[in-house]
Amino acid sequence: MSAQHQLYESKLACPVCHGKFLDGLRDAVQCEECSLIYPVMNGTYNLVPPGILNDSRFQFELERYDQIAVAGLRAYPGYLATRPKERAELIADLLRAHQVKEFVEVGPGFGSLLDRTRGLKRTAVELSTAFLTHLAVRLGEPDMCLVKGVAEYLPLASGTVPCLVMDGTFQSIVDRERFLYEVSRICAPGAMFVFTVAYGHNYPRRPQNGFNVNRPDELETLRHFLEELGFDMEFRYRDLGAGKWVQIKDEGDYLYMVGRKS
Ligand SMILES: C[S@@+](CC[C@H](N)C(=O)[O-])C[C@H]1O[C@@H](n2cnc3c(N)ncnc32)[C@H](O)[C@@H]1O
Ligand SMILES: [Zn+2]
Repeated sequence: MSAQHQLYESKLACPVCHGKFLDGLRDAVQCEECSLIYPVMNGTYNLVPPGILNDSRFQFELERYDQIAVAGLRAYPGYLATRPKERAELIADLLRAHQVKEFVEVGPGFGSLLDRTRGLKRTAVELSTAFLTHLAVRLGEPDMCLVKGVAEYLPLASGTVPCLVMDGTFQSIVDRERFLYEVSRICAPGAMFVFTVAYGHNYPRRPQNGFNVNRPDELETLRHFLEELGFDMEFRYRDLGAGKWVQIKDEGDYLYMVGRKS
């Protein structure tokens, strides 16, 4: 499938000004508003805003995740290998139950969810080239669009995305407020937002902007923030090992937030 066809299908846009891309370039796309040019290599769009990786906080995340991706999933038995699968199954069931046909996943990592949602139209926005290589090798399919990009500058047109998923990635995000503003910008009215965070395992690693979601008071702040952005979210807590929904507590596995944009 040609880059242009994927482009047309996937609602990609300039991460800097949100302009559409012009047709007709080979191995690159150009923003029709600000004229920035972004490379397209082996079908993967590189839509990282110029200069952003000079920020050492992004460099820190990138190096960390590149190392994990290069080591491969087999290097991470136990928690890292099993919990993402459990979460992905839960989310895949949810998407099926709501007859979702198309979604964007930000920070898919090894692609546990993308693996389980074949047949749906998927756009993966991922910071690490090493993870994108995994996704291209294992999952490269015509109905999946691979994008190197950052959560804080989502390369999608405003008001176009019917469903957005971020699973287990929020703790890595450098500017969490900015990410949530971006989610609100790109989601269409009525869009579904599926958002999980490691409630008991959030460890601050460098200055980040936004919510420290393992603290109950910060959770309330997050709830209000999402409400003000127009998201009506249900907050639930999942004990993954036990496979059941439980009351929110101080230590544990995953906080699931599922809701819609008004
Ligand atoms: C903890 S892993 C979660 C992966 C997967 N969703 C899972 O549950 O197994 C975080 C993923 O987000 C990516 N990531 C980290 N910061 C990001 C950012 N600012 N924008 C986009 N992706 C990011 C990492 O490269 C990594 O693939
Ligand atoms: Zn632009």
